[in-house]
Amino acid sequence: MNEFVPLDFAAAWQAFTRQRYGDQTDKDDRAMWASFAEQYDERTRFSDGLQTLLEALVHPGDTVLDVGAGTGRIALPLARIARRVTALDHSPAMLDVLRRKMIQQEVNNIQIVETTWQQAEVEPHDVVIAIWSLYRQSDILTALRKLVTATRRTLVIADGDSGMRPPHEMPHADLLSEIWGGGAGQGIPNYLYFAGMLWQIGVRANVQVIYEQRAYQGATPAEIARQLVPARATPEQIERFSTRLEPLLCRNGNGYSYRYTVPIGIVTWTRG
Ligand SMILES: C[S@@+](CC[C@H](N)C(=O)[O-])C[C@H]1O[C@@H](n2cnc3c(N)ncnc32)[C@H](O)[C@@H]1O
Repeated sequence: MNEFVPLDFAAAWQAFTRQRYGDQTDKDDRAMWASFAEQYDERTRFSDGLQTLLEALVHPGDTVLDVGAGTGRIALPLARIARRVTALDHSPAMLDVLRRKMIQQEVNNIQIVETTWQQAEVEPHDVVIAIWSLYRQSDILTALRKLVTATRRTLVIADGDSGMRPPHEMPHADLLSEIWGGGAGQGIPNYLYFAGMLWQIGVRANVQVIYEQRAYQGATPAEIARQLVPARATPEQIERFSTRLEPLLCRNGNGYSYRYTVPIGIVTWTRG
């Protein structure tokens, strides 16, 4: 008897995202980003390693498409190298922050496109990136095929590891899943789903994982908690999280500190 059952990465990913975001509409997602857009850059740490890697893949003269560009954390640095960047996002609030930063930083080669990836009509770009932005696709394989079609040379998808293992990598992972759902500690790392799903559509990608140390300081546990909670957290949830987080923190002269390791998966495909 053949006991080998090929893993359907797409079906597993859709089940995982349905469990996490299933009851939220695109409108809900936009409302969530609207309430968080102004704090996004401050509250969300960006990976220097990822930025360096992306900068090395973009050549002067390139066009870049950033799908789910948000506040332009990566679109802005890439615009300094590329000829033109298309920053696509469905959240007007996130794009407003990007518009403001473009003026402040005197960047004028970013074209903003406000739409969902599902509805977007885009021409091919040399480099296409989707960084933590593919969590809302109800037909993920169609979304990935569209990314591949839009890629003239290099496609990069970056995502994290919802299945954090071993547990010491992120001591508060179980708390996050207890309060916000999503089953931390289960499943497989998000970036492996993406490599698997690309493989399902005939695209052999490379996977690179970088591990970054995150260090947080705060006068109180609540100060640290606010830096760790998901964007959709309510004040009550933050308070509950903060109380439960305290035993995991180290006390020091100035208050509290907290360190953990973040794995970031970078899935890259270059058209042969
Ligand atoms: C976690 S943020 C990442 C932003 C940016 N890539 C970064 O790394 O800072 C996710 C972004 O994806 C956008 N997004 C989510 N689903 C989308 C969709 N279906 N179409 C377009 N944008 C989407 C959200 O509006 C949000 O700005």
